[in-house]
Amino acid sequence: MRFPHLAGLSIFLATATAQEKIYQGFNSGNTFTDQTAKKQADFEKEFKTASALSFSPGSFNSVRLYTNIQAKTTADPISAFDAALATNTSLLLGIWCSGTDTITNELTALQAAITKHGQRFADLVVGISVGSEDLYRVSESGIANAAGIGAGPNTIVRFINQTRSALASTALSGKPVGHVDSWSAWANESNSAVVDAADFVGTDLYPYYEKDLTNTIDNAKTIFDTLLKNVTDSAGNKSVWITETGWPVSGPNFGSAVPSVDNARAYWERIGCQLFGRMNVWWYNLRDSNPANKEKFAITTDLSTTPQFNLTCPAGSGAPVSINTVATKSAASGIKASFLMDSWVYAIVVYGFLAFV
Ligand SMILES: *[C@@H]1O[C@H](CO)[C@@H](O)[C@H](O)[C@H]1NC(C)=O
Ligand SMILES: *[C@@H]1O[C@H](CO)[C@@H](O)[C@H](O)[C@H]1NC(C)=O
Ligand SMILES: *[C@@H]1O[C@H](CO)[C@@H](O)[C@H](O)[C@H]1NC(C)=O
Ligand SMILES: *[C@@H]1O[C@H](CO)[C@@H](O)[C@H](O)[C@H]1NC(C)=O
Ligand SMILES: *[C@@H]1O[C@H](CO)[C@@H](O)[C@H](O)[C@H]1NC(C)=O
Ligand SMILES: *[C@@H]1O[C@H](CO)[C@@H](O)[C@H](O)[C@H]1NC(C)=O
Repeated sequence: MRFPHLAGLSIFLATATAQEKIYQGFNSGNTFTDQTAKKQADFEKEFKTASALSFSPGSFNSVRLYTNIQAKTTADPISAFDAALATNTSLLLGIWCSGTDTITNELTALQAAITKHGQRFADLVVGISVGSEDLYRVSESGIANAAGIGAGPNTIVRFINQTRSALASTALSGKPVGHVDSWSAWANESNSAVVDAADFVGTDLYPYYEKDLTNTIDNAKTIFDTLLKNVTDSAGNKSVWITETGWPVSGPNFGSAVPSVDNARAYWERIGCQLFGRMNVWWYNLRDSNPANKEKFAITTDLSTTPQFNLTCPAGSGAPVSINTVATKSAASGIKASFLMDSWVYAIVVYGFLAFV
């Protein structure tokens, strides 16, 4: 067997996040899969669905963004900010760092949002990720996989410094400033200056893409736990946040990994349910947005609050208990008639006549 037995994930989860508020949510790009810009109403719909998902283990009321800039503008603040304020959704902000020498436009957009919304905005901000998988894209595997333009550790550290300076006398001063990358980038000692500069270590972790590790769904938990342990070891005393994880519901096989709704459900139960409520997690994903991905990760269809699989976590998993278990007309508003039927059918089964009085 390739992997050593781990003593148990709970040990380091407990120490990493003791006392802190725990966030859970999804990732959100600034465009749709056809590259058109998401508007405020589009983000609001996502955030409302995320927090109203049927049988959700606790509320998914946080979102991770990749950029502060509204798509198709130079430096306008992303309309996700207004949507977050309208729906009380917390924000892991992102500053896009690859393919550029400067993050001035990102910081201009963020400053505009601080000026416009002040403390109400700051209260929703969980942290700021300077970059997303930039180090992976310049690594040997990133280059071999033609992952696109990245940025090296010196650039990321310089941008982290600039972000801290720009926020120093604003309502966001003191918010954690970190970076998001693959487990392999964090494990690479050439990148240790980024760990040193970061307040938190965000990691995107996908057993599905680990084709060299016999990545069947049945091995997914062992792979995940081993790679997460590697990241926490590399992170020293910095908090580790799961910024992306998930298993595709459809798409091509990858090594031994097979996308399917059943496997996505198994992944949620075996990996998600051991994390929710104990570690910050931004799941991938509520809705697809990366047009380059042949794999589809969306757990919902057309933002229905009834996901493709039952989100309930097993009793004893330690995850929050299911919420949104009572189908109501308001939670279901705007959703297809067929879904309404399903909702009412299980409302009848679970709640009997009470659902109708
Ligand atoms: C916003 O959400 C936070 C928890 O995420 C909660 O403590 C707060 O009361 C909410 N505020 C409003 C106005 O609903
Ligand atoms: C380790 O990181 C450095 C700097 O980011 C990169 O140039 C190098 O290719 C990485 N090593 C591997 C094995 O990917
Ligand atoms: C970033 O800031 C740290 C702490 O102030 C400093 O030691 C380091 O030289 C700076 N690095 C870059 C690349 O700006
Ligand atoms: C993390 O993974 C890297 C790359 O496989 C390996 O070199 C390193 O020894 C691992 N570190 C730990 C603590 O397991
Ligand atoms: C992490 O370690 C560094 C140096 O080793 C120390 O200065 C810092 O206070 C520690 N931070 C926490 C949160 O323990
Ligand atoms: C989801 O699973 C839970 C636990 O098995 C069950 O009580 C609930 O009825 C299920 N919900 C739906 C919509 O099937």
